Amino acid sequence: MRFTIIAPPVPTQKWKEQFEKIAPHIPLLIGTETDRPEEIVCAMVWKQPKGALKPFVNLKLIFSMGAGVDHVLADETIPKHLPICRVVDPQMAFSMSNYVLMALLNHHRSWYEFQAAQQQKHWAQFEFIERPVRVGVLGIGHLGMDVAHKVQQLGFSVVGYSHSPKKTPFPSFVAGEWDQFIKSLNVLVCTVPFTPKTKGLLNYSLFEQFAEPTYLINVSRGSVQVEKDILRALDEGLLSGAFLDVFEEEPLPVDSPLWSHPKVKITPHIASLTYPREGVLQVLNCFEQLEKGLPPPQQVSREKMY
Ligand code: GLV
Repeated sequence: MRFTIIAPPVPTQKWKEQFEKIAPHIPLLIGTETDRPEEIVCAMVWKQPKGALKPFVNLKLIFSMGAGVDHVLADETIPKHLPICRVVDPQMAFSMSNYVLMALLNHHRSWYEFQAAQQQKHWAQFEFIERPVRVGVLGIGHLGMDVAHKVQQLGFSVVGYSHSPKKTPFPSFVAGEWDQFIKSLNVLVCTVPFTPKTKGLLNYSLFEQFAEPTYLINVSRGSVQVEKDILRALDEGLLSGAFLDVFEEEPLPVDSPLWSHPKVKITPHIASLTYPREGVLQVLNCFEQLEKGLPPPQQVSREKMY
């Protein structure tokens, strides 16, 4: 019995260290090169190359090293019977919420205008306007719910939207109530997973539905946004700005006009990082449950893709 980590685009040293510390009795492979692929029972993956899991004929569990599983499911060669689990970590939610609060408060408190004024040595004391803010959180799963709670605790008005009804301490909407959600916003925070339904969701026709210029914060997936439509909506004033952590192509190409747009803030997909210790504890727990014949926690539905 052996586990493997297959995550070619990211450093895996910390996962390896934690795994060897917490589970020294389980041999660990990094990558796919092995003479005995039949020994591998669990694969921890982040953007595994297509077909990379094929040689592991005795695989019992696939574990996403991040919150999203779109990167796992992009490989349609994965046998349908294999359970896929993902990290669900309060620390990740803490980190994600802090990121959204940073973006929201910088915008709300006109930080960029004050920064520009400082560069001009201009004492812009009377030029700050505290805009009314109603924040819409699109996607209230584990991460989005934490974001919405924290934004609400700061005193902002919050509304949520999700695929299935959720019990929330703020108004939340489901399919059929979209108009009530979208028309009332000043800030839209996108925390949906990537699925065929959310592909290209943040597009011009959505931006046209805002009743007022709205600030966009996207921490979900780049494929959920249409960047040329974001640029158009910014230039036409439908969007008042955009704070983006994810992009259609990552790393964001140097020639993307987003880099230098005055109303766009960019971070390199770092809104929330996975914590290797927690990830390792969770994969071991999922595997243990499976071995006992129980459904592993945090198992994702292939249809829903989350
Ligand atoms: C990061 O994007 C993740 O899915 O954890």
